[in-house]
Parts: sequence; C-alpha cells; structure tokens
Amino acid sequence: MTRIFIFEVNCLKLIIVFTSLIFLNGIECYLSVPLKTVNEREKSEEVVTQVQEIDRAVIPNDQDVLDASKPLIKANVGGKPGLGFYIELGIGTPPQELSILVDTGSSNFAVAAAAHPFVTSYYEPHNSSTYETTAVDVFVPYTQGEWHGRLGTDMVTIPSSPNSTVRANIVGIYSSEKFFINGSEWQGILGMAYNSIARPDSSVTPYFDSLVGGTTVSDIFSMQLCTPFSIGNNSSIDSSGSMTIGGIDPDLYDGKMFFTRIKRKWYYDVTVTDMGVNGHSLSLDCKEYNFDKSIVDSGTTDLRLPQKVYKKLMSTLANQIEDVYVPDTFWKGTELMCWDIGTVPFNRFPTVYLDLEGPEDDTSFRLTIPPEQYIRWVNGNEPGKDCYKTGFASSTTGTVIGAVVMEGYYVVFDRQNNRVGFAVSKCAENRVHRSKFSPDNDMFDDSNSKECIYDTSDSDSVLVVISYVLAGLCVLSVLPVFILYGYHNLKNMFKKRMSDDHSTDGEPLHQPLDQTTENRDDAITDSQSQQW
Ligand SMILES: *[C@@H]1O[C@H](CO)[C@@H](O)[C@H](O)[C@H]1NC(C)=O
Ligand SMILES: *[C@@H]1O[C@H](CO)[C@@H](O)[C@H](O)[C@H]1NC(C)=O
Ligand SMILES: *[C@@H]1O[C@H](CO)[C@@H](O)[C@H](O)[C@H]1NC(C)=O
Repeated sequence: MTRIFIFEVNCLKLIIVFTSLIFLNGIECYLSVPLKTVNEREKSEEVVTQVQEIDRAVIPNDQDVLDASKPLIKANVGGKPGLGFYIELGIGTPPQELSILVDTGSSNFAVAAAAHPFVTSYYEPHNSSTYETTAVDVFVPYTQGEWHGRLGTDMVTIPSSPNSTVRANIVGIYSSEKFFINGSEWQGILGMAYNSIARPDSSVTPYFDSLVGGTTVSDIFSMQLCTPFSIGNNSSIDSSGSMTIGGIDPDLYDGKMFFTRIKRKWYYDVTVTDMGVNGHSLSLDCKEYNFDKSIVDSGTTDLRLPQKVYKKLMSTLANQIEDVYVPDTFWKGTELMCWDIGTVPFNRFPTVYLDLEGPEDDTSFRLTIPPEQYIRWVNGNEPGKDCYKTGFASSTTGTVIGAVVMEGYYVVFDRQNNRVGFAVSKCAENRVHRSKFSPDNDMFDDSNSKECIYDTSDSDSVLVVISYVLAGLCVLSVLPVFILYGYHNLKNMFKKRMSDDHSTDGEPLHQPLDQTTENRDDAITDSQSQQW
C-alpha cells in the first residue's frame, strides 16, 4: 500500500516538474517580445531552505492589535508616481539624511555610497564616527538591475523619533546597473522582509529586526500608500502616505481589518484563493494564482501575475470593456492611453478582485481593485492630458501584490502574529470607485481555500528537481529501446502475416529511423524471429 502510494506521489511530482519545465519554456519564448518603459525590477529567485511553514491554526483573528503601552513611530512616505515609496532615514553620526525606498519584497538595507547620475546625495561612511566596516562584499541581482556593495554597520535613526536609533547592517553600494531610477528621488533601499532572504545569507540581520531588538517597538509595521489618479499639468504632485512602526494607526483606515496568514517567513508570502473581473471568477485552478508564491511587495508598482493568470485576466478585461476603445497594446503594457485632464472614463472599466485566504478555516475575503488603481498614471509628457498604463504585468516568480493593490488599503505587516492585514485606506476617498471588501464588507465561506497553496517545498529543493530530471532522462534514454522493441514486434507480426509485404517500412512512426537503426532493427529481427 505505502509503496504504491509513494510511487503515485512521485509520478505526480514528475509530471508536475515536467509540466512546469514546459510551462517555463513557454514563458521564456514570450518574454523575448520587447517591452517599452519598464521600470519594474523583479527580484531574482533565490534558493532558501529551512523556512518555517506557518499553520493557519495559530493565526489569531482578533481585531485589536493595538497595545497602547507600546510606542508608535510614524514616518512620512513620499515618492514619484510609479517610481517607489520612500521614507527619510538618518544614517551615521552625525546623521546623514537620505531618502530610502521601502521594499517589503527584500531584506537588505542598502544605500548609495558613491556618486551616481540618478542620485542627488549619497552615504559617506568616512564622515560617520560610528561606521564599522566588514570585509564582506554583497551582490544583489534583480531581473532588471543589480548592485555591488560593501557590508558594514552604522547607527540608523528615524528622524521623527530620535530615540529610535539602533545599530544596523548597511550595504554601501559602490556600483550598480539599472538599479537607481532617474527622478525617483530615493538613494537607497530598505528591505523589510525576513532574514531568510537576506544577502549574502540569513545571518545578515535586517534593519527592522535590529529596530525591534534594540528598542521597545513591537514587531509590526503598517503602510498607507497613496498616489493621485489624476495629475495633469501639475507635475509637482507626488505620491504620499505614511508608515507606522510598532503598530496600527486607526485614523488611516475605515471599517474592519481582515488578516491573511503569512504562510512562510521569507517574503510576505500569502495565499490568493481566487481572482476575477466584475464579480466573475477567472475560473482557474486556484494553485495557479500562487505559482510559485504570492507576495505583498511595496517595492513593486504593478500587480504582477503568473503568466497563465495574466493572460486570462487580460483577455477577460479586454472582453469586458464597452463604449471605449482600448488597444491590445495598452493591456500588454507597451502603449500608454492619454485623455484630456478630468475625462478619464474610469466608469467604463470593470473592477478586478483578488481573494485572499481568510483567518478562519475555509474562509476568504475579497479585495476589490477599482480601475482608478489598476490604470495607473504615468508621465506621458502630453500637455493638457493625463496618461495611463495598465498596472498589471506578467511574472515568472509568482504573484506580486504591488503598489496598485496596496494603494487602496491600509496594509499591516503583523509579524508578531504571522499575518498581513488589509483595511480600506482613507487616502482614496475622493475616487469614483473606492477599494472595498466584498461582499458586504465581510469574510465569506470558501471551502476551496485549502487547496490553493502551491507546494514550494517541491520546487525549492534543487536536489529533488535534479533527481527527477535525471529520472526523466533515464526514462527518455530507455524509451528508444521500448520503441524499437515494439517496432520489431510489430514488424515481425506483419512479416508473419504478410510474408512478402514491406509496407511496415511505410509506418509514419518509423520513418525517421536512420540507417544504423534500421540495420540494428534487422539484426534484432533476425535473432528475435526465432522466438516467434
Ligand atoms: C522615545 O522616548 C520617548 C520619551 O522618553 C518615549 O515616550 C518613546 O516611547 C520612546 N520611543 C521609543 C521608540 O523607544
Ligand atoms: C534624468 O531626467 C531628467 C528629467 O527627465 C533629464 O533632464 C536628465 O537628462 C535625465 N538624466 C539622465 C542622466 O538621463
Ligand atoms: C494644461 O496645460 C495645457 C497646455 O499647457 C493647457 O492648454 C490646459 O488648459 C491645461 N489644463 C489644465 C486643466 O490646467
């Protein structure tokens, strides 16, 4: 019994591995189509082992995560639309103030430590009396862009809370490629995810762990990100928002807050249970939405989706638009659409939804993503017009719930309870469509939700993959023998039945066999024929 069971499971894994290889090949072909204006950086895949799986049973569902006795630190968030959200940090002694991109999709704190055409100022360790260097060089590649730096430590302060000063790991970036963005206004990146994905390894404590360890601040932070949906002629309008460290600010959201489990502590990896348009599901196997993870990432602008989900969503959206011409190239992200200021037909675009696993068994809650969020403003340099780009993109590294989703919600990274909370953000109040929970601002029963996790433990283990590939190669190398054997038997059968007929040579399946094979086949025929 057990043996049969294991064999079946292995067969299944084998099929999954091969299917994903074929799938990935398909993606590579697709990605060779060149795209225009892509500012996104996709984190490169990393092999992370020993990441603890978190059971849903341990996730509390209380609304109250406020502990009045704990200090809250508030930091203002700024940014240019589509170019990332940053906070100010003071680094070194005396503090050198720099703008740092807040990135919940990585775990290193790194700042420019040398001049670069796209940064206005940079960190100068030799001007800090508290800087300590290490001999460790760090390299972080992204799908687009990369940097090299030197790991050190220094005192880091959040200017609004001077006694938040702690010693933290800092990488001084001395060279980079396509990492800094012209006009983004930030000079460094603050990775807010877990140490298991820190470079060069998990022993490099991320800044937030140092802050929690060195102060009385609780292990939780929240983000409210806001980008205006129309900017028009006033290019001085910026993104804004705030970051609350140590807890939740109830003034920044309306109504209830819903929590979803962080299923593994590496990225903020959550479980998407469904996606759809205007209330109708895309009807994909829900594992597809989490292939191979689903992360909440403030450092990504778009909602990035696995190839299959992306294609289905784009075709569904294209079919749901009425009375307004939207070219395919807009959905593909290769073309902008511009309208006279104040005439953007948001009403003609459908609402997209994304369901997340709820805090109780067999429940989900629904985040709506209105067109004001997923059609995002970009600077098209067209006077008198507002130009937009789709906020959806395809991904080869799983679902990335980026800023276009986060901007509708106040998002709480409740690390002490292993969960991410969403509540309707107050900053989008003046929109035609507002983000909301649906239906009825509540959770709903979803017996399917347990089935949606893509089992990353299979794909993470390089050894498992290698062994299956080898097993696959074995099968492939044995296959010709079987084919020849079958061919030969067939041939013999025909020879027996129609002794002078050579028509078996005309069998399409056997046509490609070359001369050598034919010869060998004849030889086998000779020896085998005696058994008939
Ligand atoms: C900073 O000091 C003030 C006053 O002593 C205190 O109320 C606050 O909680 C402290 N903040 C942190 C982060 O420890
Ligand atoms: C950066 O952008 C500004 C404004 O768009 C432009 O004038 C400048 O040439 C750009 N700098 C570089 C180095 O490309
Ligand atoms: C924006 O600028 C254009 C050209 O400079 C002008 O014609 C238009 O009236 C302006 N629109 C608004 C709403 O200010």
